[in-house]
Amino acid sequence: MTLPSSVRLFEMSPRDGLQNEPGTPVPTRTKIELIERLAKAGMSHIEAASFVSPKWVPQMGDASEVMTGISRHSGVVYSALTPNLKGLENALEAKADEVAVFGAASEAFSQKNINCSVSESLERFEPVLARARGAGLRVRGYVSCVLGCPYEGEIAPTKVAAVAKALYDMGCYEISLGDTIGVGTPLAAKRMIDAVSREVPMECLAAHFHDTYGQALANLYAVLEEGVSVIDASTAGLGGCPYAKGASGNVATEDVLYLLKGLGIETGIDLQAVIDTGYWITAELGRTPSSKVALAIGCRQ
Ligand code: HMG
Ligand code: MG
Repeated sequence: MTLPSSVRLFEMSPRDGLQNEPGTPVPTRTKIELIERLAKAGMSHIEAASFVSPKWVPQMGDASEVMTGISRHSGVVYSALTPNLKGLENALEAKADEVAVFGAASEAFSQKNINCSVSESLERFEPVLARARGAGLRVRGYVSCVLGCPYEGEIAPTKVAAVAKALYDMGCYEISLGDTIGVGTPLAAKRMIDAVSREVPMECLAAHFHDTYGQALANLYAVLEEGVSVIDASTAGLGGCPYAKGASGNVATEDVLYLLKGLGIETGIDLQAVIDTGYWITAELGRTPSSKVALAIGCRQ
């Protein structure tokens, strides 16, 4: 078991972080500034927006304005969620660099989140992938509820592996495995990765862990040991899923960067700049970061 020498971090705060923000919509200019600050901190992959139905997720209703409003930094990939062809066409028009389809390992969650069964969702993704790839865009695939579902409870690793394989076979270049409600523990995370990596190459897997039960860092360490080298994280620990009640945000980017630094794993990201960004965005939202590292180190300004 050797740890990777470098990790690619996929920053989630503008999308997974803000999609569940209660109350009035976060101003478009605030979202744009967040994305700019993250790029300046050295992020290479930022999920900037979500082209979903604004009736379902009102906070992402300005996806086109956000995507067209950001000034692009070279070397940074600005991606967006696209659940169907309508979302994809809007994402293409707004010049997203990369898009993502999102399925689930749980039937009940699939119904609540995207209003169709798992197999219907896979059918729906086929033309999205064909059109995206025809337009020269890479497509990422998410699988939600990989370590448990808010409606169905336990999820078998073989079910996760089957959905991951379907997305990979369809042409997704990377499969991001979402512990949507943060219920996983390290042994379960290892078992799930073990099952999925029999169907999809390890280098094409990403860990997308939410920190609801405070287990995300332990789970990340467990899957790093298995060979995962792509991690999704959200600055200040922002976020949650509108269709997973009580789910808190992705593991905080600051906490992941601190862990990786201690392990001697390169990311190319400036931890202090991310901490400062976390303090700034949470002040805009009227609270403080939920990252322990951010609270311990404090803001520079
Ligand atoms: P539906 O109601 O079944 O769709 O929703 P429909 O095709 O019947 O269309 C209904 C209406 O929505 C129509 O408008 C469409 O035009 C419109 P109307 O005629 O009623 O005025 N519509 C759209 N509008 C804008 N953009 C679109 C779009 N598609 C249809 N793309 C749909 C199906 C998938 C659209 C809906 O269920 C939806 O938007 N769901 C999004 C749910 C979501 O965003 N969840 C959070 C993200 S996933 C997540 O957080 C998990 C993840 O982080 C990983 C993890 O943690 O596990 C990725
Ligand atoms: Mg998520």
